[in-house]
Amino acid sequence: MVKESEFFKSKKAWSEIKDDVLSYYLPIYLSKVATLRKEIVLIDAFAGPGKYEDGRWGSPLIIYNAAHTRVQGKYLAIFMNKYKNHHRTLVSLVEQLNDSSLLPIPGESQTLLQVILQKLRDQTLFVYLDPFGIKGCEFATLRPFLERDKRYSTELVLNMNMPIIHRLGGKPQRKDEKLPGITVNWHKRLSLVLNGDYWKEILWDKSLSPEQKEIVIMGRYREELRKYLPYAGSCPVRAGPRQRIKYFITFCSRHEDAQLLMNNAMCMAYSKAMHGAEYAGTLFAGLDWKEMRQSREVKELDGIVLEYIKRELGLTRLDYWKRIVDTHFMRFLDSEYKDKVQELYDKGRIDSPTSRRKKRLNDNCVLYLREDADAHNQART
Ligand SMILES: C[S@@+](CC[C@H](N)C(=O)[O-])C[C@H]1O[C@@H](n2cnc3c(N)ncnc32)[C@H](O)[C@@H]1O
Repeated sequence: MVKESEFFKSKKAWSEIKDDVLSYYLPIYLSKVATLRKEIVLIDAFAGPGKYEDGRWGSPLIIYNAAHTRVQGKYLAIFMNKYKNHHRTLVSLVEQLNDSSLLPIPGESQTLLQVILQKLRDQTLFVYLDPFGIKGCEFATLRPFLERDKRYSTELVLNMNMPIIHRLGGKPQRKDEKLPGITVNWHKRLSLVLNGDYWKEILWDKSLSPEQKEIVIMGRYREELRKYLPYAGSCPVRAGPRQRIKYFITFCSRHEDAQLLMNNAMCMAYSKAMHGAEYAGTLFAGLDWKEMRQSREVKELDGIVLEYIKRELGLTRLDYWKRIVDTHFMRFLDSEYKDKVQELYDKGRIDSPTSRRKKRLNDNCVLYLREDADAHNQART
């Protein structure tokens, strides 16, 4: 694991993905939740000093920037730090910003989160957990937030370190082997974080690669989260396409809009970072990552859109998108989907009877495959 003293020297490639997800997501999320007209509480439970030594922004400044521009005067941002040095650096940064909506507090996030929970009423709540390892992400710490009253908006975003899961979850050599106390404790810690010991079967399955194990474990973990908040998704965080996954950044929310927004935020952050890492120093480095996606990932979208319309005729463009995001999370951007639907319409592959002001299709347009639309129109005449 990266040493505490090293981490904030300069921003690492994988931290760019985490920070880009926040930077894309928060402004739109904040504009949306502002319409609920409740105070917005943003908690950065593992805040760090606010800035890297190379001057680049850490999560406290990213949160501040989004909140200050979108919901000024309507929010409180709480930054927690266990280490006094980080707390002190953050306090001086906050003093320069001179904004009473920012509250850095020193202490262990596990304890502070409990204190804050007692004070919460109907506020709109966003909690960000970005520890170095997995300590502090115990499910018992999250559960009271996940169980908040359904009437109030609650969202969690957390980063789960992957190498540590392998390190803590070592397999006994034999079934009857008596494990040393330290290994027993590590296993217990994993079960407390992941909310069950399902990880053992997955981690100890010899037929899976380390990455496959991580993907399956995170899928099961999201199922645990979805027992409380129905929408959850994850993005791998790594330095490049062939590098190991360092973290999974995972969100959960009660609102399906969060899933659509996070799909975009995570897809953009990941694609941009992988494009940068893959083509650095090559002729392709200057090309727009979105353009490159057009020629690769987006190719598949044709078939997927047509398949979904065929499966369930006559839903709106937005409804099909929700279904596609649900089953293909993080694979496509909403702009790619909209362009593809329009292209299929222009080519005469799909039709829409919905009257609209503009020629271009919109989210409310009901869609049919062309042959089904013809049959539908004939039946009406
Ligand atoms: C991965 S860094 C967070 C980086 C930060 N999100 C950013 O973007 O700048 C984790 C931070 O949490 C702090 N920390 C570690 N354990 C903690 C705990 N139990 N409670 C609060 N802070 C803790 C560390 O000192 C470190 O500053």
